[in-house]
Amino acid sequence: IDAALSDGPLKGKHILVTSGPTHEPIDPVRYIANRSSGQQGSAIAAALRDLGARVTFVTGPATTPPPPGVTVVAVETAREMLAAVEAALPADAAVFAAAVADWRVKSEAGQKMKKQAGAPLPVLEFTENPDILATISRHAQRPALVVGFAAETETVIAHAQAKRARKGCDWIVANDVSPATGIMGGGENAVHLISDGGVEDWPRLPKPEVARRLADRIAQELA
Ligand code: CTP
Ligand code: CA
Repeated sequence: IDAALSDGPLKGKHILVTSGPTHEPIDPVRYIANRSSGQQGSAIAAALRDLGARVTFVTGPATTPPPPGVTVVAVETAREMLAAVEAALPADAAVFAAAVADWRVKSEAGQKMKKQAGAPLPVLEFTENPDILATISRHAQRPALVVGFAAETETVIAHAQAKRARKGCDWIVANDVSPATGIMGGGENAVHLISDGGVEDWPRLPKPEVARRLADRIAQELA
């Protein structure tokens, strides 16, 4: 099986994939998180592997296990994810499927925060996390193809196009994650592939199928 896989169209290519949520600590026992399952990121890593790529899979604490046959770098926070991604460069392509926390708590408490009768409730102060996709899109070792995701709950295409321009990536895979779609955490995805060439609307498909189509497009692009 290995011989067959390493002969695919992505043979000899190194591709980075980020996946899952990040966890941002509040104190030693609490954190801020989001609902990303890591399913789409794991499926993309597996599909790229199946086309023969060497895959570095940088994952936050996802409920979906990483696929076999990829190099797994497990991280917790956005800052750790950025460091792991930079350490994995150079790469021929990078796919940023992680749901990175936009904010972290400004000063993590060194000890568990305790209730105190009559005391005022705690107020968390936040600060912005580094934007991994934007950083890598403008990096000295920028991969030839940089693919971002855009999770939106309204005006999906316009928001995603603005995001592509702002972040400086080549493609954006945009999806509507509003609760009514059931996308977030579900087994299917309905995405729009946004590139220089315009907007492609893909049908609602199982996440592994979205991953295979994206991997095929990446292979075409890197050929
Ligand atoms: N991303 C990232 N680092 C961050 C935030 C986002 O690498 N700190 C990446 C995601 O992995 C995704 C893309 O940027 O590929 C877009 O993420 P998204 O959350 O949709 O966009 P934001 O720029 O964070 O904007 P907002 O959440 O306000 O819509
Ligand atoms: Ca965000």
